[in-house]
Amino acid sequence: GYYIEPYRPQYHFTPEEKWMNDPNGLVYKDSLYHLFYQYYPDSTVWGPMHWGHAVSKDMMKWEHKPIALFPDEHGYIFSGSAVVDHNNTSGFGTEDKTAMVAIFTYHDMEGERSGATNYQTQGIAYSLDNGDSWTKYEGNPIIGNPGFKDFRDPKVFWNNEAESWTMLLVAGDHLQIWNSTNLKEWEKVSEFGKDQGAHGGVWECPDLFPLKVEGTDEVKWVLLISINRGAPNGGSGTQYFIGDFDGTTFTTDQVEHKWIDLGRDNYAGVTYNDAPNNERVFIGWMSNWNYALDTPTEKWRSAMTVPRELTLRKIDDEVMLFNYPLQSFERHVAMAYPESVLEILPSRKRIMPLKYGNQSKIQFTLSVPNAQMYFKNTNGDSVSIDIDREKKLVTFDRRKSGKVSFSDEFSPGVQQMKIKNIPQGPIEITLLLDHSSLELFINEGQYVMTNQIFPNDFFRALTIVNNSESELIIEDFTEHKVERMW
Ligand code: FRU
Repeated sequence: GYYIEPYRPQYHFTPEEKWMNDPNGLVYKDSLYHLFYQYYPDSTVWGPMHWGHAVSKDMMKWEHKPIALFPDEHGYIFSGSAVVDHNNTSGFGTEDKTAMVAIFTYHDMEGERSGATNYQTQGIAYSLDNGDSWTKYEGNPIIGNPGFKDFRDPKVFWNNEAESWTMLLVAGDHLQIWNSTNLKEWEKVSEFGKDQGAHGGVWECPDLFPLKVEGTDEVKWVLLISINRGAPNGGSGTQYFIGDFDGTTFTTDQVEHKWIDLGRDNYAGVTYNDAPNNERVFIGWMSNWNYALDTPTEKWRSAMTVPRELTLRKIDDEVMLFNYPLQSFERHVAMAYPESVLEILPSRKRIMPLKYGNQSKIQFTLSVPNAQMYFKNTNGDSVSIDIDREKKLVTFDRRKSGKVSFSDEFSPGVQQMKIKNIPQGPIEITLLLDHSSLELFINEGQYVMTNQIFPNDFFRALTIVNNSESELIIEDFTEHKVERMW
């Protein structure tokens, strides 16, 4: 079937109904991408957490699966990851079946209510039928609580350097790294972050992976840490660190912390284990804890970002993390011929009609330093993006984007993104517009802003204003319809 309720994303993943938050257990096995997610099947607000489940061949069309993990006597099932235990290190596999192992946090609600602070522990479960049915390990919890109120979100991956499994765990204000040879017994080997990065809130949902710096043989490790609150534009956000990992310890000489996305709705994002061709694929939860429970949808709540490929590129001697829709996304984007050449004189504008009812990808090359773009509909709703390469600043304004008053925190002001290393020449702009989101990618994902919007009607036009002293000539403006995923 398909879903056409107001604001239902047409090409972003949503649960069929009820509440969803973080992506969990992103793993590829036997030609399928698995997406588990924080799920509460009884309501459209957060509650006792389960792991929902979906599978896909290409991360665009998803098949919904039954709930994978249910709360048990140890607590709710919070965020975590999944691995394929190819060498049967855990012993959960059989001669002909490879185990998929989920590693997650138990959140013991009774413990929390009783005023204790040691109610978050780590547990595991395994599946011998590709995630359809799960058995919890009888030795759970595998890691007890050493005295941290926030102690969660295990990301496990195979560590070639140490020839062991590595688990990243966050403990309030820092990251802990644990190693194991069998996924059951774990030993803490290092910590990171008490004196690094942003600390305006609790650290959540870590990830760590190697990437080649494009065009070189240099490999750097990237650490992702979500933080709530404390993001630059308010509430939840994801910072990253580029450094080195020797199998036990992560180090960085990066001085200022960086953010993967300066919009307000990309949180708790992590990457796939075992993705083919060494591709590093990232999916984030497209919301923000500041108002996630209040957004104006009825049957379900929240969506995921489009899957994005992460790459490292050196710009002006600084290595930066880019995030950009996967190549395979293009297969779901309909053909479109470029518009005829747009010529916009200084301080003039051009109104481009939009055809695809908030289900489109808009792309063009921006050749002048400064321009503003705004979407409008006949209800008077608008969303504006101002790119100023002279001031090195992008401003995103959703204050009049439609329904905004469901929460004071949704758009208390405009959002700003510094674009310190933006190149001077022509830059590529991509806008992904779906029924309740707008993702902005500048220069192939060098700078990104992801935002939810709830317009009262489809946007009918995109206006481009030339705020530069030279003429703006756009030869490649395209609006493509994006196929719906249902
Ligand atoms: C992040 C988070 C995680 C936690 C989960 C609970 O959004 O707070 O730290 O495991 O959500 O649903």
